Amino acid sequence: MSTDLHTGFDEQQYPHINKGLDGIVAFSTTKSFIDGAIGELIYAGYSIDTLAENATFEEVCFLLWNDRLPNSEELAALQAELIKERNLPEVVLNYLTSTDKEAEPMAVLQSAVSMLADFDPTKGKFDSELFMSQAISITAKIPSIIASFDRYRHGKEVIAPLDSGSTAFNFLYMLNGEEPGTQAEKTMDLCLILHAEHGMNASTFTARTVCATMSDIYSSATAAIGALKGPLHGGANTAVMKTLLELEKEGKDADAVAFTKKKLANKEKIMGFGHRVYKTFDPRGRHLQKMAKALSEETGHEELYRWSMDMLNTMKSEKNIDPNVDFFSATVYYSIGIQPDLYTCIFTMSRISGWTGHFMEQAANNRLIRPRALYVGEKNLPWVSVDER
Ligand code: CMC
Repeated sequence: MSTDLHTGFDEQQYPHINKGLDGIVAFSTTKSFIDGAIGELIYAGYSIDTLAENATFEEVCFLLWNDRLPNSEELAALQAELIKERNLPEVVLNYLTSTDKEAEPMAVLQSAVSMLADFDPTKGKFDSELFMSQAISITAKIPSIIASFDRYRHGKEVIAPLDSGSTAFNFLYMLNGEEPGTQAEKTMDLCLILHAEHGMNASTFTARTVCATMSDIYSSATAAIGALKGPLHGGANTAVMKTLLELEKEGKDADAVAFTKKKLANKEKIMGFGHRVYKTFDPRGRHLQKMAKALSEETGHEELYRWSMDMLNTMKSEKNIDPNVDFFSATVYYSIGIQPDLYTCIFTMSRISGWTGHFMEQAANNRLIRPRALYVGEKNLPWVSVDER
């Protein structure tokens, strides 16, 4: 039996494993605070409700990167930088317009973000002087990547980014080929604000873990995209829409209560519900719920909201589980005409601000992230030659 003298870790008698690192505090951060009992979310001092009512996504980016809000000159400078950085390197654009049209958009996005490292003149040097401009560049390019691939796969001409307008406006323009109205831009901007940052979720933890090895910011973002893609994390929004579209097949009178109960009886998870930290309604969900109601009525898809409410009430009464951010965001994106398999890409477009904020925070006070595992396998087995096994 060996005990690590430095940590006191005993490989034989380690007392307790927090499966899923439940309840483990791994870092201190100024980026966000969550009170899961009362459903409170704060980004760098500001309540999510305050930001949802007043901020723009660009102001939230500045906040997450600098721990304070910008003055008007700083905001204008950031907007100008983001606009300047929207164009993609030709090789990346060529990839986006020649890859398999059936490819998963998140996989394409992940590959394209990793390619951006090749075109960084500093070659991804781990230098705190460079992190801000790298964060701005990746944040500016992700919407261009998503829109370019989506247009290509649908046989449409790829559109160059605008040299003006907000991230939300430019993205909708590049995606749809026409300038969005004020309401559509506002809806997209609010979605970007609500998804920007969220404590030590799986993708942010991944981003920080990669940073802690002193690898570059592109590797960190690429790894984080991989973590976000999973259906237990950011991939849940696409999965929610799949569920709602399953209901749609049964017609407008589909019974969402029976549908939910049946899934629960089969021990299936209902996507868009439950959370490791929130034990009440996700505060982001309240804003999305309001938008989902208004938009589904506006677009003549009231049944989506009705089914959502039936599912919500059934989950509450059967399991006492509340919806998370992904539940109503699915209906919002659907109502503004976005394809379900792009929903997690849009989550990425926003969360890149949080990941890169955490990257800078980790780099400024770094230590390699290296937890331990309890070995439960066998030891000292005799070697058996291959033809005797
Ligand atoms: N549907 C049905 N039962 C659920 C659900 C759900 N969506 N979520 C949790 N439960 C049950 C689960 O079966 C378990 O029951 P029991 O104790 O009887 O076995 C109990 O609640 C605790 O669940 P858990 O899976 O141990 O909780 P966790 O903290 O490990 O997982 C979660 C959290 C988000 C992965 C989980 O709630 C889940 O799988 N939800 C569905 C996927 C989803 O919507 N993910 C998005 C998360 S929020 C946005 C983001 O961060 O990306």
